[in-house]
Parts: sequence; C-alpha cells; structure tokens
Amino acid sequence: MTTLLGIETSCDETAAAVVVDGRRVLSNVVASQIDLHRKYGGVVPEIASRAHIERLDGVILEALDVAGCSPGDVDAVAVTHTPGLVGSLLIGVTAAKTLAWAWGKPLVPVHHIRAHALSPAIDADPPPWPAVALIASGGHTSLFHVRDPNDVTLLGATTDDAAGEAFDKVATILGLPYPGGPHVERAARAGDPAAVAFPRTMLGRDSLDFSFSGVKTAVLYHVHGYGRTSGGLDRLSETDVADIAASFQQAVVDVLVGKTLKAADATSADTVTLGGGVAANTCLRQHLEAACAAAGLRFCAAAMPYCTDNAAMIAAAGFYALAGGVTAGLDLDATAS
Ligand code: KG4
Ligand code: ZN
Repeated sequence: MTTLLGIETSCDETAAAVVVDGRRVLSNVVASQIDLHRKYGGVVPEIASRAHIERLDGVILEALDVAGCSPGDVDAVAVTHTPGLVGSLLIGVTAAKTLAWAWGKPLVPVHHIRAHALSPAIDADPPPWPAVALIASGGHTSLFHVRDPNDVTLLGATTDDAAGEAFDKVATILGLPYPGGPHVERAARAGDPAAVAFPRTMLGRDSLDFSFSGVKTAVLYHVHGYGRTSGGLDRLSETDVADIAASFQQAVVDVLVGKTLKAADATSADTVTLGGGVAANTCLRQHLEAACAAAGLRFCAAAMPYCTDNAAMIAAAGFYALAGGVTAGLDLDATAS
C-alpha cells in the first residue's frame, strides 16, 4: 500500500489530496479562487500566487485530516511542477519540497497534463490502458496514446486556442460570466445546436492537432457582424444567445469527438479516456460515449471531481511515476511550459 499526498497549484485552484495506490481517494480538497478572479474576467497571475500562499497550508492540513493521516502515513509527496503559471506553480513546489525534506519522503514531480490524462483511471476497474486519452482543459487540448502510465506518447495538440480557452472567450463574447465553460454549457441547454453552422476546423485529413481560434472568431463575427468586434450583443435575444452557445458547443464537440475516434483508429486502441476541465461538459461526455459505443470502443471519462483541476489526479499520477522510479531532488524547478 503506497499513500501519496498530492499538491496542485498550477492555476487558480489550491488543492491537496491523499490517494492510496493511485486509486483510493482518501481526501480531495480544492479551494477555488473563482470569486477572486471573477471581476477581472479571467485569472490574474499575481492574485493567484498570493491566494495560493494564503491557502495552501490550510488545504494540506485539511487533506491530511479528512484522510485521517499523519505525516508518518504518507509515503511520498507529489506536486505539479509544470505547465502552468510559474508564480503559482512555485508555491506548490516549494511547499512539496519543504514537506518531503521535513518528513524524509520522496518528492515526485508531476506534469499537470499527464495527470489529467491519467485521471480517468482513478475510478476505472480494470485500469483503462492501453488507451487513447483526450485531454480538453483551459490551456491544452491534447491526444495521448497511453500504453501504460509510464509509456505515454503525444499524438496531437492544440495549435492555438485550447478547447476550454475557446469556451471562456465565447462566454465573454456572449456576455456570460467567468469561468465561461459551465456558463456556455448552461446557456446551450435551451438552444438549438443546429441553429448556426459554425466551422469545424480539422487541419487536414490525418491531422490529430486542434485549432479552435477559427470557431471563436466565427462566433465573434456572428454576434457583431463580419470584421466587427463590438456593438452586436445588445441586439441578441436570450434565445439567440442560447442558440449560439449550443451551436458553438456542438462545433467544438464534433471536432473533439472526430479527432479522438481518428486517433483510436490510428493507434488501434480499443479504449478511449476523457479528462480535463472541459470533460465536465455533459454534451462532450455524451457524444464521445455514443461515438465510442458505435465504434465498439470502451469509454472511460474522469469522474466529475477529477475533471477540473484537483490534487487527487496529481497524487494518482505521482503514484505511477514513483512506481516507475521517477523522483526529484530539492532542486526541482517550476516551469511554465
Ligand atoms: O483542467 P482545468 O480545470 O484547468 C486547466 O488545466 O486549464 O480546465 C479549466 C477549463 C476552463 O476553460 C473552463 O471554462 C473549462 O475547463 N470548463 C468547461 C466546463 N467546466 C469547465 N468547459 C465546458 N463545459 C464545462 N462544463
Ligand atoms: Zn488542468
């Protein structure tokens, strides 16, 4: 039995969790900073760093307390060290180094996106590997071939806006609050996904890369008029906003589903996994699940608490890294990308 404390501070969630053997989540504490950033319409890096400093100690103590663990029960400390906001990452990395040193335990560096890729395994029995893993988050849209947790190959990635970033920008265009994804999804529920024919950018027949800046710009021009960036929002009814949200969401989902199925075909994988903040989107979960069923593929999505940023996925990914012999010294760097 191997118990890891995971620490996550790469963006605007301060999180700590205790997980046994990469699967049994004893605690998963997330302190969201949404209220601090909302009035700015996005994450302000300096505010995020300060909030991590103020909250991280309490979040770690709560994670240990809820798990019923003392430091002696923890076998290793896993921490997100890349990618993310460097000032925010630094807070988590410094805390993890301090605890690893003080407790005399190994320090395990975790790549945030790899952790999203492994997050569907927390609840999957048997483990979902080998698989094609789709990660759709605020900063990244990626397809990985996960042969096992320590043998992961990047198949394709975002060339401009990530899927979550497109949701957030479209929310701003439609006058919806930050963070945009859940608000666009909510607005879309009352809309017609076929109302507006937004583009599905595929980047070539065999490409597994993604581009969502075109669909975002198409929404912008649909709202304001071609070539214009303001003045159109007031003319839209609530139904218009719902139709645009639903049509945009469907365009993004169609691209994500289409490319993921293409990746499964290219790798002959028989399992597809889904993780990252946008994996919380019900439309995406349902369409990918249906497409996998139609293609005879097993589908395994991260459970809702492990979609948006959390530390359970960091502790889980850390477990597999540790098993593969990956540890870091006290000179571990926080790096933005
Ligand atoms: O993985 P995550 O928590 O942070 C990053 O690693 O970036 O992803 C956050 C992103 C944001 O862009 C947010 O708007 C999006 O995930 N998101 C959603 C939903 N919930 C969160 N996008 C669409 N529908 C949702 N329900
Ligand atoms: Zn993330």
